[in-house]
Amino acid sequence: QAKVEIDLASIPIGKNVIVKWRGKPVFIRHRTEDEIKEAEATDWHKLRDPQPDSDRVQKPEWLIMLGVCTHLGCVPIGEAGDFGGWFCPCHGSHYDISGRARKGPAPLNLEIPPYDFTGEEAVVIG
Ligand code: FES
Repeated sequence: QAKVEIDLASIPIGKNVIVKWRGKPVFIRHRTEDEIKEAEATDWHKLRDPQPDSDRVQKPEWLIMLGVCTHLGCVPIGEAGDFGGWFCPCHGSHYDISGRARKGPAPLNLEIPPYDFTGEEAVVIG
């Protein structure tokens, strides 16, 4: 379907949820305070796809992105890899807690889909 509504109240801090949107997995992470600090403190200018965390989230505690590796499209694994984020087992790409490509063949950060918060605890993707 074109739009998917998600109840964020059911996702505890420090947990990932995967939803389907237009046939693709969308990763939603309820980030912890420490994860937000780490994502914001990263010296992003030096990254291969330079992007500050603030350009990747609407609310710091909610990281919402496509679960499609930017190398060749596998689905990365959460809470894995060398940067506290995701790891793609297909060819070894590491993504950080902002979903930015940090190591391995992935050329770009995980893509951010269009979404809107429709309330304190609800978001619509699409
Ligand atoms: Fe993810 Fe190649 S598809 S590293």
